[in-house]
Amino acid sequence: MTRYAHIIGWGHAVPDQVLTNDDLAQRVDTSDEWIRTRTGIRERRIAAPDEYTSTLATRAASEALRMAGVHPREVDLIVVATNTGDYIFPATAALVQDALGASRAGGFDIQAACTGFVYALTIASDMIKAGSIHTALVIGAETLSRIVDWEDRNTCVLFGDAAGAFVLQAADEPGGVLHSVLRADGSGADLLKLPTCGTRNPVSHEALERRMQYMHMNGREVFRFATRVMNSATREVVEKAGLTLDDIAWIAPHQANRRIIEAAAKALKRPMDHFLLNLDRYGNTSTASIPLAIYEAAQAGRIRPGQYGVLVAFGAGLIWGAALVQWTGPRPTRAARPRPRWHRVASKAGSWLRRARRYVEGRLTR
Ligand code: UT7
Repeated sequence: MTRYAHIIGWGHAVPDQVLTNDDLAQRVDTSDEWIRTRTGIRERRIAAPDEYTSTLATRAASEALRMAGVHPREVDLIVVATNTGDYIFPATAALVQDALGASRAGGFDIQAACTGFVYALTIASDMIKAGSIHTALVIGAETLSRIVDWEDRNTCVLFGDAAGAFVLQAADEPGGVLHSVLRADGSGADLLKLPTCGTRNPVSHEALERRMQYMHMNGREVFRFATRVMNSATREVVEKAGLTLDDIAWIAPHQANRRIIEAAAKALKRPMDHFLLNLDRYGNTSTASIPLAIYEAAQAGRIRPGQYGVLVAFGAGLIWGAALVQWTGPRPTRAARPRPRWHRVASKAGSWLRRARRYVEGRLTR
């Protein structure tokens, strides 16, 4: 029997601190007018010092699990798409697993720049369809404010912090994540990158002096690439599903620049109100941008069961991709089951106990 991977819960997390264009104009040579007209962004959220990618991811995941009526212990796999994981390793997914008390889950991170959420969704849904797992958490989470050069007006006006999460679960009825198109072209690797902190250019005084620990981008070239692939990837995934663009009720584009989305709308001959947009309030939140836009649209009742939608993204690599979903929504038979407080307390206590046991065992076997 064919198995499907339905999206049965969604959640989000955004930091409280709002940074407006006017705030930015006091730091670098820019203006609200330039940012609004060239990008469509009005403000973005910035993580507090004690907020990390893992804490935003955990909040978004908790909300998604609550909506799905799924207990953390029922999760088989956690995939976190991120470019700003808490560490290079361990994986942020492991920190989320521990914080949620998802005691039976495996987890890993995926780094495919701003297309990471589309990749993560594809991997998790394909594992569900193959029968190797039943329930997955797919999270896009970023604290980009930590890798943005706040002295570079070409990049610092664009990005923000956020997280979005989906709960995927196996189902026999058709629907959910149906098809994907995943592409890469590494010849464009220099167009957008974080030059140091990896192994090619390890952190050094010289690297720090050259501000290589921050994001570097050729915005104009990324813009040209983005307008091309948003169109081609959307068409390709719709064709793969045996549908036409007229069958698609909504498109959730990566929220990088309103002008890129307008160009895609023109190339696809779709009206702008077909596109789920929120970059005016959050800026570019990379892997979080698509699940966050879908979260808001679903909460507002703009996305309805049975509708076909396309998620389409592009980013550093160069990497791009699209996924076609048929919206199903939470299972009607499962009442939303808030995550019991005792489980949160018990999983935290369990985590400390495991640390303590590791410590004692280490002392005894020394
Ligand atoms: O997730 C993927 C990540 N990246 C992206 O999606 C970025 C894609 N690219 C873009 O969105 C646009 O290329 C930008 C918003 C980055 C730049 O817009 P643009 O219309 O392509 O501007 P530009 O790079 O052609 O620059 C035009 C002018 C330049 O001045 P000169 O050389 O003409 O004197 C820039 O220095 O605008 C200047 N400029 C700014 N002026 C005020 C660049 N950034 C700013 C700024 N405020 N923040």
